[in-house]
Amino acid sequence: MTKIKIEKNSVQETLIVPLYGRKMCAEKFPDLYTDHSAKKLCEQLDYDFSEQEAKKDSCLYEFGALEAAMRQLDIMWEIREYLKEYPEATLVNLGCGLDQTGKACDNGQCRIINIDFPDIISIRQELLPAGEREKNISADLKEDGWLTEINGEKGVIFFAAGVFHYFKRADVKKLVLTLAAKYPGGRLIFDTVGKTGLKLMMSKTLKNMGIKDVDGFFYVNQPKQELQWADKIKVSSKGYMLGYYDMKNTGIRRIHRWLAGIGDKIMKMAIIRMDF
Ligand SMILES: C[S@@+](CC[C@H](N)C(=O)[O-])C[C@H]1O[C@@H](n2cnc3c(N)ncnc32)[C@H](O)[C@@H]1O
Repeated sequence: MTKIKIEKNSVQETLIVPLYGRKMCAEKFPDLYTDHSAKKLCEQLDYDFSEQEAKKDSCLYEFGALEAAMRQLDIMWEIREYLKEYPEATLVNLGCGLDQTGKACDNGQCRIINIDFPDIISIRQELLPAGEREKNISADLKEDGWLTEINGEKGVIFFAAGVFHYFKRADVKKLVLTLAAKYPGGRLIFDTVGKTGLKLMMSKTLKNMGIKDVDGFFYVNQPKQELQWADKIKVSSKGYMLGYYDMKNTGIRRIHRWLAGIGDKIMKMAIIRMDF
């Protein structure tokens, strides 16, 4: 089978970090994270994983992998909660990359929409063709065209994992206000990090993009105060690493849990929920 090429230093490449992280977590922490689909997907990509492989047993790299897995588990938790109320809802994966969060939450009744740039969607079509009640859409989230494809009549939950860090604050606000106006009763879930965390996390990416400072980019230190962009939006948040699960699973070391606490408290890593 011909493998699919992922270019280095491209936007496409940003999907590799969480994908490889999920693969590693399923291998190292099966008690916490059981999904082995990321491993299969990595095997189907023409990408030089040697840099990741070389670091994979270091404590910090393991922690990075845990970040990828926790984010997906947290978002899945939120989607399942929403589906209890709206079992036929539409689940919209914003900036889906090769993540299968929608499918993992499929209750047999909901609809799933995955959105990303055209080059990512064409890779996705090949590796993860849309199933029944599922659709892959090529679009730039900063433009509005894709919204006509989203029917929120039976409920809609949007989620963005690792996506808004690449957005300017004004772009996130515009998207949120558009969704809030168009989908009353809808919900949006996404991850955020504070200014210090964003600087650390994105240093390599920002350098590649020629950006010196994170000002203007989307970081959040105090979710409730900073994200209350309209009266009708109810904003709440939980810790990203420890807000949903205590991480007391086999193989997870005390240092990982200590770093998780630092992540949530000092780096201000959070999962934000907005009810429209
Ligand atoms: C870090 S990856 C995360 C992928 C996936 N959500 C995951 O957790 O594995 C960020 C994804 O957001 C997509 N993305 C970033 N900006 C976007 C935009 N303006 N429109 C559509 N997709 C975008 C990228 O192409 C990439 O697939």
